[in-house]
Amino acid sequence: MTRLGKGNRDGWDALSDWYDLKQGEVGDLWHRALIDPVLLKAVGDCRGKHVLDLGCGNGYLSRRLARQGAEVTAVDASPKMIKNAKARGRGSAVRYVCSSANQLRDVPNSKFDIVFANMSLMDISDAEGAVGEAARVLKKGGRFVVSISHPCFDVLSNSGWVAEKALANPLAVYRKVRGYREPFSEMVPWNIGDGSKGYTVGYHRPLNWYARVLHSKGLAITALEEPEPTREFIEREQEQQGDLDGVGFQEVPLHLVIEAVKL
Ligand SMILES: C[S@@+](CC[C@H](N)C(=O)[O-])C[C@H]1O[C@@H](n2cnc3c(N)ncnc32)[C@H](O)[C@@H]1O
Repeated sequence: MTRLGKGNRDGWDALSDWYDLKQGEVGDLWHRALIDPVLLKAVGDCRGKHVLDLGCGNGYLSRRLARQGAEVTAVDASPKMIKNAKARGRGSAVRYVCSSANQLRDVPNSKFDIVFANMSLMDISDAEGAVGEAARVLKKGGRFVVSISHPCFDVLSNSGWVAEKALANPLAVYRKVRGYREPFSEMVPWNIGDGSKGYTVGYHRPLNWYARVLHSKGLAITALEEPEPTREFIEREQEQQGDLDGVGFQEVPLHLVIEAVKL
């Protein structure tokens, strides 16, 4: 896999204030109206359970689950993300820890009922190490719930929408993909306002990479879900991005939610 820069901590650290405003306390459109409903359904009722949020960002999901009665620990490698999460989370019961997901020092074995990672695993350079740590800190029978960019259809800049107009079919939208099989990393651009761009590092790994790594860490896949866009998501995307995103998302999923159980 291509190595880029110092890895992802500095990228996300530099974007932490922008990301904090973007997600707020309920998540942005993509999280709130596309990914989170499926992730949270897989997480299920976590009242009274010990829950770990891996790569928590500003921690809005951690606080949501804590309000529902979970004992939540939230981990992120970016010191500024954790600072912002703590500032938002004053008075909430969440324990925030600044640590890399692949080295959860001070977290004992078999502590958690549920570990979840919302859109963070494909941003983590040592994702295999992070899965290993998730498995270590889960209780036997505990569940690891992960949402990621869909490895088959969202292959960083090796993928995109293509539209074809024809008389019989006014707008057919296809997803083009190349270079799927080989893991690679590249800089991911984010529009951070005023025409400026910020960059993080994204890591593509094919679907069989996830299956093999989960299996090798003693985690058995029990569910795979491909979030479908809500009506709100389609309408807002069509307003903002035009027909391509709105039409394409209804037919091709760009996210995957995996649930795996510790054997
Ligand atoms: C796209 S954000 C997702 C944040 C949050 N889960 C959410 O849903 O808003 C990815 C997060 O992964 C974190 N991250 C990247 N590498 C990490 C690592 N090695 N260990 C822990 N967190 C990491 C980043 O700092 C960032 O907060």
